[in-house]
Amino acid sequence: MQILAGIPEIHAALGNLCASDSVGLVPTMGALHAGHRSLVQSMRAKCDVAVASIFVNPTQFAPNEDFSRYPRTLEDDCRMLEAEGVDLVFAPATDTMYPSGAATFIDVPGVSERLDGASRPGHFRGVATVVAKLFHIVQPDFAFFGQKDAAQVAVLRQMVRDLNFPVEMVVCPTVREPDGLAMSSRNRYLSVEERQQALNLYRSLHEAQALTKQGEHRAATLLESMTASLKKEPAVRVDYVAVVNPDTLLPVTDVRLGALLAIAAYVGNTRLIDNVLC
Ligand code: PAJ
Repeated sequence: MQILAGIPEIHAALGNLCASDSVGLVPTMGALHAGHRSLVQSMRAKCDVAVASIFVNPTQFAPNEDFSRYPRTLEDDCRMLEAEGVDLVFAPATDTMYPSGAATFIDVPGVSERLDGASRPGHFRGVATVVAKLFHIVQPDFAFFGQKDAAQVAVLRQMVRDLNFPVEMVVCPTVREPDGLAMSSRNRYLSVEERQQALNLYRSLHEAQALTKQGEHRAATLLESMTASLKKEPAVRVDYVAVVNPDTLLPVTDVRLGALLAIAAYVGNTRLIDNVLC
């Protein structure tokens, strides 16, 4: 496995490939866990050449967010990626991705302002910009993303469509701890007590999903159920509870045509998100 920090080095390494080889990309910010691993495994199964990127992208963090304390575990990450058969890791420095004077950003209006985009203004502008840059640098045929970040998926799908990126997005299911908590690099911020309280997010989603399986299709009833269930754990501070169309992230009133049930909440100072499709 090669670990490269420079763009010319990535181009040279990928340029040696035979033209028919398919290239996969898993973009990450590192601090890798089993959720990331599942993306890498899907890529390895589908693509001839497997590339992962590790870059804590400053433009997707607001000044008051956790950019500086975001966990950075490059050595462990590379060990895991090598064990999973990744060919190439792109781990650039900040000024490689954003040299001084860089001024161009990608805005995906509408969808970027909903759910997490509403709570974190500018977040998806940073995500879309860095992912577009990674697509240009690596030129993957397939790019792998997690359902856990459902709003991110909606924004990036729209960007790929609008800008005609020749890449197929593959969305992989959310990987959970045995008790249901969605895996996240930010789970390591949680104390033992908060880790228990955080379970409330999945429990609330799970209960609402169970209602849909019993035939409930009114979004308002599902919202009430999730809101009531979240209130059972007073330490969990809700940011949003939503029942939306997974592509547009706009609210739906009836879930019979498919919907995304999504929650964001603070446990202590840590913002967690989770969702289920129904
Ligand atoms: P990061 O949070 O490191 O996540 C990288 C990828 O792993 C994302 O596609 C995310 O949805 C996926 N992922 C995270 N937790 C998961 C889980 N429990 N199950 C399945 N997949 C999971 O998302 C980002 O980084 C950044 O915004 C990025 C796209 C790299 C742009 O900077």
